Amino acid sequence: MAHWTDEAFRENSGVFRRHLEDRVDAAAEETDDLLALLGDRGIEPASALDVACGIGRHAVELGDRDIAVRGIDISEPYLDRARERVADRGVGDAVTLERADMRDLAGRDGEYDLVYNLWTSFGYYDEETNRAVLAGMYERVADGGALVLELVNREGVLAEFRPAAVPEVADALVVESVEYDPETARMETTRRVFAETDGGYDYEGEMVYDVRLYAPAELAALCRRAGFESVSLYAGLGGEPLERESTRLVVVAEP
Ligand SMILES: C[S@@+](CC[C@H](N)C(=O)[O-])C[C@H]1O[C@@H](n2cnc3c(N)ncnc32)[C@H](O)[C@@H]1O
Repeated sequence: MAHWTDEAFRENSGVFRRHLEDRVDAAAEETDDLLALLGDRGIEPASALDVACGIGRHAVELGDRDIAVRGIDISEPYLDRARERVADRGVGDAVTLERADMRDLAGRDGEYDLVYNLWTSFGYYDEETNRAVLAGMYERVADGGALVLELVNREGVLAEFRPAAVPEVADALVVESVEYDPETARMETTRRVFAETDGGYDYEGEMVYDVRLYAPAELAALCRRAGFESVSLYAGLGGEPLERESTRLVVVAEP
């Protein structure tokens, strides 16, 4: 059976693409915050690996700031869009894009000052595979560099758990239904998209997003087990202090 990520990001990539495009404008500030967070610990990356780069939201921004970025993703449609965006911004000298799987990072050549994985792109697989993905990312971080993860914080999400929501995303209504399984700590979200038309809304398609949620202490322990010596936790890329109700979690892990 195909993994849900193949369905959601490759075969039926249009539903989530709407979300990605909707977040393009946020990427410049997110990138500035990311670089400031690293700068606070004396890290000024010259090279970066964007693991699960999507349509290149952050890769384009880092390229624009003269950082050599390699973006990898499993989705051909998103990589095609990322290539268009790289060309439009004129950052082709700094940004390279490659179809590659985050499960294949280990045992390859190439280390980077910064390895990053943003917007809940971690936790897609079973426990062992998620650990292997983390170990692969660890291998690709150069000495003196860092891994940055930005994802959902399980504790914050459960504190305000909403089984249903109807957010507006780029001229569409998205009807979300969410289930959480405490035995596996997995959250499955079904998103049905209704695109705005002249007279109302038309059903456009749907996707299922099935992710393992991590509590901060648990993810920090996994990072240490992967080999990182120092792990710092925040509530956002802006370095906001992590609190019980924080809905986002940022990990900065240094080898
Ligand atoms: C939530 S999006 C985040 C994209 C990007 N990091 C951003 O912030 O815009 C998740 C991305 O992970 C990619 N992805 C899913 N599984 C992957 C895998 N095994 N290897 C590489 N990329 C993967 C998807 O194609 C999608 O682009």
